Amino acid sequence: MTLPNVRSLLILPLPLLFLLAPHLPLVYGSSASSNLTPAEFAAKPFDVIVVGGGNAGLVLANRLSAPPSTLRVGLIEAGADYPVDDLIDTPTAGNLLGNARVGTLLGNPTYDWELQSVPQPALDGQPLQYPRGKVMGGSTAINSMVWQRGSRADYDAWASQFGNGPEWGFDALLPYFARSESWHPPSPSAPPLFPDTSINFTALGEMHGTEGPIEVSYNSWLTDLDAPAAQAAVAAARLQPNTNPDGGHDASMPATGTARTVGPVSGQRSYAASAYLSADVRARSNLEVVTEAAVSRILWDVSGNVTNAKAVEFVSAGKTYTVDVRKEVVLAAGALKTPQILELSGVGNRTLLESLDIPVVLDLPEVGENLQDHPVTLSDFRVVPNVVTLDTLGYNATFRAEQAELYKSSRTGALSYTSAPLGPVPLQSMTTPAQLSKMRAQLESYIASADLTPMQKVQYDVLRDIVDKGEDGWVEMVVVPAGGVLSAPEEGRSYLTAVAIQLHPFGRGSVHIKSTDPSESPAIDPRFLEIPWDFDVLVHGAKFIRKWISTDPIAPYIDKLVTPPASLTGHAEWEKFVHGNVRTTNHPLGTTAMAPRSLGGVVDPSLKIYGLKNVRVVDAGVIPLTIGVAIMPTVYAVAEKAADILWKEWKLDLVVQENHLRDEL
Ligand SMILES: Cc1cc2nc3c(=O)[nH]c(=O)nc-3n(C[C@H](O)[C@H](O)[C@H](O)COP(=O)(O)OP(=O)(O)OC[C@H]3O[C@@H](n4cnc5c(N)ncnc54)[C@H](O)[C@@H]3O)c2cc1C
Ligand SMILES: *[C@@H]1O[C@H](CO)[C@@H](O)[C@H](O)[C@H]1NC(C)=O
Ligand SMILES: *[C@@H]1O[C@H](CO)[C@@H](O)[C@H](O)[C@H]1NC(C)=O
Ligand SMILES: *[C@@H]1O[C@H](CO)[C@@H](O)[C@H](O)[C@H]1NC(C)=O
Ligand SMILES: *[C@@H]1O[C@H](CO)[C@@H](O)[C@H](O)[C@H]1NC(C)=O
Repeated sequence: MTLPNVRSLLILPLPLLFLLAPHLPLVYGSSASSNLTPAEFAAKPFDVIVVGGGNAGLVLANRLSAPPSTLRVGLIEAGADYPVDDLIDTPTAGNLLGNARVGTLLGNPTYDWELQSVPQPALDGQPLQYPRGKVMGGSTAINSMVWQRGSRADYDAWASQFGNGPEWGFDALLPYFARSESWHPPSPSAPPLFPDTSINFTALGEMHGTEGPIEVSYNSWLTDLDAPAAQAAVAAARLQPNTNPDGGHDASMPATGTARTVGPVSGQRSYAASAYLSADVRARSNLEVVTEAAVSRILWDVSGNVTNAKAVEFVSAGKTYTVDVRKEVVLAAGALKTPQILELSGVGNRTLLESLDIPVVLDLPEVGENLQDHPVTLSDFRVVPNVVTLDTLGYNATFRAEQAELYKSSRTGALSYTSAPLGPVPLQSMTTPAQLSKMRAQLESYIASADLTPMQKVQYDVLRDIVDKGEDGWVEMVVVPAGGVLSAPEEGRSYLTAVAIQLHPFGRGSVHIKSTDPSESPAIDPRFLEIPWDFDVLVHGAKFIRKWISTDPIAPYIDKLVTPPASLTGHAEWEKFVHGNVRTTNHPLGTTAMAPRSLGGVVDPSLKIYGLKNVRVVDAGVIPLTIGVAIMPTVYAVAEKAADILWKEWKLDLVVQENHLRDEL
């Protein structure tokens, strides 16, 4: 998840990291030396080419090249490669506040594609800012590091309702979640969010892996607002803290605080590049990497009725290169970019492709459809004086120097902080039964009158089941202990930004190319809040925030309602507020969904594109339906599973002879 966008950056002059510079030896942009030049890369023979070095792509690049595999793997990443970079590595530099204040990762073309949606009619005609990682590590290099797992129902739907088979259900996916992580339990000395709740660490540990590449830990330092805000959220929602949020039910604030991808000893971001592309992996002779190289399309070998990917075209520094591929292409460019590559390659909606004079290789109209995301609304509050939040780093030079020293010496303190209280809340917690049944009736009449795709019919059944059961989260409450995201902070004052994320919208959008120019961003249209239900849910979320901050023990900390002001009260005013205050949580998915063809699926349960012999998609685009939390851990799990599928399919566990492999092609 994330909060800031470019609009918020403009009103925030405070360069936090710049202020920290005297205390920290800042390092930027030391590129990895083992990468090939574009010409060297293009001249190599590859069995597999992975397109995109992000959340999913680096898992594949690592696992497919791991001994005893002798596959020759080529990885093409559009962004640059910064194995050591303090802006990426230091949590506060890369977390919500850090980004909003510094503007160094988000809204910085060195790291961010800086995509933008088309104007959204339900958001006063405003576009949404869509940051995406354009750097080795992809979005995991710039994201907020929140580590959550969805509920059992989220994944079981992939298996049953979406017809992908039992190996895609929650229980079957657990080993792959575990495989990606080195989970560290909360330190006994860490400040607790819920001092009165006892946690069964054995049960918690059973849900996690301890030998995977991604370091997962909990905060060792909290602001003054985390615990009271988390406790008040649980009280306002009439819930108990969740003592095992990764065990199959995601609802409520985690008793441990939310886990995050930070090494407990290093105090640094652990992400796809640092974890899956470590120095020893880079040193493998069967893995080659090219960066600052953007794939424009796949080139095909069409013989008889079989279409085979035979090469990949990419552009680097204005020059076009072609690299041959013997076995397979794995597209991992993310939910907003993989459809673009497919369409530029002639795979997609025939009408669209023909209108752009792109030769149609495969008419697959669902490519780029089914775009889903998590819309979010935010409020901010000034808190009483002398409360330590991340704002304190900005206005108190003594505190800042202390914290920088602490981070340097022990890798703890404010600079290691990431948002700790994130709690998905069932809709029943924030509506009266009468309000909910009125909304449900309106939703039914919308669904009855809408022209639904077969995919939507299945999705809507799954979603209605989740909302009606009321066991899992529908809106997520998040505490950001800082101001500056919505309004300009007053000098010397601390703030709380409270967030409500809609986890399962019914609206469906799309992403499609606008031209044949690969450097032109596609038209991203998530169609946020166009359905009355989606809008009403966020209005209830925004109103619930006010109830939340009026609840003990956070209430005494709140000094002033800034956005929206206390004078905003009537329902119509709340509606107006929400129309003007919605952003994306940056979890786009579903644009190349894994589902049967009869439902409009684009990839099969082995993640192969229907109708093509040797092209797979492994990224957030294959997730067929929103999950009730942030999606990075799920993308890692999907990619780990994909790697396993390929190991089995290609028998990589046998030390194969090169010519044996050649025979298989
Ligand atoms: C600002 C932000 C904050 C977020 N916060 C969180 C969070 O706290 N927790 C969480 O769980 N999720 C979070 N997310 C979401 C999560 O990080 C992403 O959904 C997820 O990482 C996407 O994984 P992916 O593999 O699909 O794509 P990415 O990780 O984005 O990888 C795609 C890669 O492909 C490359 N690429 C794209 N096009 C091309 C091309 N044509 N040629 C070559 N390479 C190409 C990109 O440069 C990128 O490296 C956040 C996302 C953002 C943007
Ligand atoms: C803690 O969890 C473990 C594993 O699930 C279980 O065996 C044990 O009984 C639990 N302990 C308590 C005190 O509940
Ligand atoms: C493609 O051609 C092969 C060989 O001629 C044939 O066996 C196969 O059934 C054909 N497949 C389709 C989908 O037409
Ligand atoms: C294909 O694209 C055309 C033109 O944009 C559009 O009218 C049509 O609805 C699309 N088909 C599908 C199945 O999305
Ligand atoms: C600034 O921080 C220091 C160190 O934490 C603290 O002692 C002091 O009271 C703070 N000053 C203000 C004005 O908040």
